[in-house]
Amino acid sequence: VSLKSLNTFGIQCSTSELIDLSNENQIPSILEYVANCQKDLLILGGGSNVLFTKDFDGIVLINNLKGIKKTDEDEHSVSLKVAAGEGWHQFVLFCIKNNYAGIENLSLIPGKVGASPMQNIGAYGVEVKDVIESVEAYHLPTSEKRTFSNEVCEFGYRTSIFKTTVKGQYLITAVNFKLNKNPNVNTSYGAINTELNKKGITSPTIKDVSDAVIAIRSSKLPDPKIIGNAGSFFKNPVVSTKKANALKQQFPDIPIYDVGNNEFKLAAGWLIEQCGWKGKTIRNFGVHKQQALVLVNYGGASGNEIFQLSTDILESVKGKFGVELEREVNII
Ligand code: FAD
Ligand code: EPU
Repeated sequence: VSLKSLNTFGIQCSTSELIDLSNENQIPSILEYVANCQKDLLILGGGSNVLFTKDFDGIVLINNLKGIKKTDEDEHSVSLKVAAGEGWHQFVLFCIKNNYAGIENLSLIPGKVGASPMQNIGAYGVEVKDVIESVEAYHLPTSEKRTFSNEVCEFGYRTSIFKTTVKGQYLITAVNFKLNKNPNVNTSYGAINTELNKKGITSPTIKDVSDAVIAIRSSKLPDPKIIGNAGSFFKNPVVSTKKANALKQQFPDIPIYDVGNNEFKLAAGWLIEQCGWKGKTIRNFGVHKQQALVLVNYGGASGNEIFQLSTDILESVKGKFGVELEREVNII
């Protein structure tokens, strides 16, 4: 079975079997079946944060669990249980329509709700951990259901327990969110203000913030329907005060953000651009013209070619700046 339309990089690859999960009751029997086959299992949401470097020799489970349920409400907030197969941006639009605030800055991120806690999706000053109460998941080896509270998830910048300690062990089935009924919009990210000012908006609604984010994203991130990609290929590296100072001295223009705890975040896109990669095209793949952090497949590239490009970029950034980039995209 081809996986080409199931990964936003548009990589041609295949799997021996595809299972569509649309009802939670199916889970124990599916997991038993997988165990009996003694095959590897890969769970996919929207396939927008994966790079296939070969055919997948196993079973791919497509998460299509649907449903949004109100579980609690008072005058200030609302709690929603959202099934893992709901589209992330559709959920954002649902919240905006109902005036539930908290995720408007995360508008237009591709993928499904179930993957949102995996790497703690973030954009424009907000991370999904700020609104997650808990995550519901099945333990793959035992089919036991477990609820992970926010604290237990160990959320960090582009990480959670699901990418570290319990990696590959759970199938996320639902995420419980707590959203605000009294919006307190977050326009801390400079670009949002610039966008709002352009329109003369001084007291923005959550819809205004969402529209601003959509406008910014559309101007620099490639639409995977047109150009294959998985968003930022690398994480923004975090360095010590000592390293930050040394870099500032050698490269006075380098963007550096103080993230507290004597840690400083660098813009990987800037580092990559300075190494001359921005807009570079190799045959039918390369580095996006508007955003050096995004690797692109113009059609027909293999996952290995893109992986090799990422290795070349890692090495040149390491050589010029002495900074080790880490891949954000899940390599399969
Ligand atoms: P997939 O790619 O299908 O899966 C990602 C990983 O999670 C895989 O390892 C998979 O096995 C696992 N997984 C998925 N669902 C489950 C589940 N239910 N249970 C257990 N494991 C699961 N990310 C950001 O954080 N911020 C951004 O601003 C952003 N912008 C992007 C822009 C573009 C154009 C693109 C293409 C991607 C962008 N991303 C961004 C990355 C990506 O959209 C997010 O990481 C998203 O959450 C991935 O969702 P998905 O459903 O496509 O996950
Ligand atoms: N920059 C360059 N050249 C480039 C790209 C960026 O110099 O080609 C520098 C500029 O100084 C710019 C700065 O990097 O001001 C930041 O760029 P941008 O605002 O585009 O954000 P980013 O750091 O490149 C991160 C996330 C994105 C998220 C945006 C907005 C990571 C790895 N990426 O990108 O998330 O949408 O901020 O908050 O943290 C993703 O994870 O897939 C993703 C797209």
